[in-house]
Amino acid sequence: MERKSFIFGTAVSDYNFIGRETETARLKANFLEGINTILISPRRIGKTSLVKHVKKGLESNPNVIVVYLDMFACKTEYEFYNALAAAVLKQTASHVDKWMEYAKEFLVRLTPKITFSPEANSDFSLSLGITPRTHSPEEVLSLAEEIARKRDKHIVVCIDEFQQMGELPDSLTVQKKLRSIWQHQQRTSYCLFGSKQHLMSSIFQRRNMPFYQFGDMIFLGKIATSDWVQYIVKHFEDRNRSISDELAQQLCGLVDNYSSYVQQLAWLLFSRLNEGETAIAAQLNMAMNDLLDANEALFMQQIESLSAYQMNFLRAVAAGHHIAFGDKAIRDDFNLGSPSNITRLKDALIKKDLIEVRGRGEIYLTDPVFQLWMNHRMI
Ligand SMILES: Nc1ncnc2c1ncn2[C@@H]1O[C@H](COP(=O)(O)OP(=O)(O)OP(=O)(O)O)[C@@H](O)[C@H]1O
Ligand SMILES: [Mg+2]
Repeated sequence: MERKSFIFGTAVSDYNFIGRETETARLKANFLEGINTILISPRRIGKTSLVKHVKKGLESNPNVIVVYLDMFACKTEYEFYNALAAAVLKQTASHVDKWMEYAKEFLVRLTPKITFSPEANSDFSLSLGITPRTHSPEEVLSLAEEIARKRDKHIVVCIDEFQQMGELPDSLTVQKKLRSIWQHQQRTSYCLFGSKQHLMSSIFQRRNMPFYQFGDMIFLGKIATSDWVQYIVKHFEDRNRSISDELAQQLCGLVDNYSSYVQQLAWLLFSRLNEGETAIAAQLNMAMNDLLDANEALFMQQIESLSAYQMNFLRAVAAGHHIAFGDKAIRDDFNLGSPSNITRLKDALIKKDLIEVRGRGEIYLTDPVFQLWMNHRMI
């Protein structure tokens, strides 16, 4: 397949992956040393890409096997156990056909069903038929450790969209089981990551919660402008277009270095150029407008269910207010209702992941392009 100049929306690798040297090294060291890791960031910053990058970098390492699992679709405790067991069996088998042997050896009483997806040469999905009647949580949660011992390796289980754990029915009980079993394992460590900061922090940052202080906590930040400039300039060049360092830098600034948006905006600008052409500022402005258009439907959907007060609160934040929403002047300017209303508004918008708390309680919109859209099109 021809390589793409810019990718946004799905995890990236190789040609489309830039920067993250420090984070890669830290994660790699944790994986090799068996240190549990928690990785948190806003949406679309690059968690999945980073973890897959580290996994790939360790593929030739004889001492460690990295297993990747996305738990987004897991809506119950046992759906999670099935997904976990399937991922561990498939990805730790020394040969692609071996997982069935592993399944028989390590988990008895299975009734596996294999479903091949309709697209040719794509992956198969495995449902193992693990139910409360056939298997205890302990059995499934010990699977990786047993395989690690048997194969004399260290296993790192990476669980993506881990915020979903907080949404399972009876979540706290499930979390307690996981923590109590995982913490005694010698040869298995975990990398738990996801977005929706309020859900992730409620799992990992509350003293009374099972996963409190479970491991090395990494807040994944933005990719540095210098890395982005290098990436954009090179990717334009590779396809016989050009852009100056300065304009590439401006491009990053427009979307606040937000990974997915940098790639999308770069693509929108690129697509306006003919072969041999050099990008100019006016084209960047048009591309920025395209970016707002492209995301409008999504943003509309996000505000659809908001109350008038909640909208007003968003307007206040978008206009540059980050603290002191209880002050009469701000409440009057933006029609926020009574001071007691403010906390409720904040909580509701945090739950919807539209705003986040930074530093010492300052409120920001989670998405910089949503912020621009609010200011340009919703006033
Ligand atoms: N290291 C990187 N180099 C270049 N682009 C990146 C990098 N990391 C992320 N991106 C950009 O951000 C987009 C989202 O990346 P990714 O899916 O890894 O983020 P995420 O944090 O896992 O997102 P989500 O919160 O939706 O799970 C990618 O499609 C790509 O455009
Ligand atoms: Mg992801």
